[in-house]
Amino acid sequence: MRAIDHNTITDAALEQMSATPNPRLKQIMEGLVKHLHEFAREVDLTPEEWIQGIGFLTAVGQKCTPFRQEFILLSDTLGFSALINALHDKRGVEASTKSSLLGPFYREGSPEMNLGDCIVASPRQQVVIYGQVTDAAGKGIPNASVEIWQTDEDGSYDLQKQDGVEIPSMDMRGHFHADAEGKYYLRTVIPLGYMIPMDGPVGDMILAQKRHGYRPSHIHFMIGAPGYRELATALYTAGDDHLESDTVFGVTDSLVIQVNKDDANAPIKGLPSIRYDFQLALAAKLGSGRVGADPSQITKVGA
Ligand SMILES: [Fe+2]
Repeated sequence: MRAIDHNTITDAALEQMSATPNPRLKQIMEGLVKHLHEFAREVDLTPEEWIQGIGFLTAVGQKCTPFRQEFILLSDTLGFSALINALHDKRGVEASTKSSLLGPFYREGSPEMNLGDCIVASPRQQVVIYGQVTDAAGKGIPNASVEIWQTDEDGSYDLQKQDGVEIPSMDMRGHFHADAEGKYYLRTVIPLGYMIPMDGPVGDMILAQKRHGYRPSHIHFMIGAPGYRELATALYTAGDDHLESDTVFGVTDSLVIQVNKDDANAPIKGLPSIRYDFQLALAAKLGSGRVGADPSQITKVGA
């Protein structure tokens, strides 16, 4: 009989899983067990600490609802979502706009809108966002799908305006289709940067680590077209105080946008404007570019 100790336990666990028929599941679980065991050995984890960890993960799960996804927040604040995004970008077969976090506030089925529409029900200062969705060679992709979601000018998503019972109606989000040349334009507001939800276990973790918890002002996009890799990304407003210290590590240079007060090329005159062209890579195989999902869909999967 094998003597189980703090080292041999890893091989014993791997051996018991070795008949896993699905090769990808086998690879993922073997990697997970190896690194999880190594982590415990490295920090010499005590029973009390692991029970505390299990309590933390239990609280993260208990905080999840159809309009709140604490596990995505945990993944984001650990830098894990940004890592998965970077790996996804690395696998691309050709150049494209960089991915960024989908975050916990994406919702399926946002309102279908026409080019030029405003996604905000009660805007104070409107701004135009326009540009072109292109392929890797810079050629426009006709009718590309452009989904957008963001906070209002005070830093709140529609999902955060819920009463704890009803899922709030959609606002500050919309679904557009580019024109025959891949061009899109719409109206919105400049969102305010915000503190991630701090009233849960992830917030407790952030406070224990003396982190500020802020995200810089940003606008989420999901861009897609048949035959191309779906792009989940976000654009970040230049000048925000937290661009360099985003709590969820979403910012990268190429995604920072400038607001132009007087752009002669803007398709709607008399408003400040932002121009951004999105580049999609061909899809080598089908697959999602989303690290995250509509919280209500995740709750269903877990039910
Ligand atoms: Fe966000």
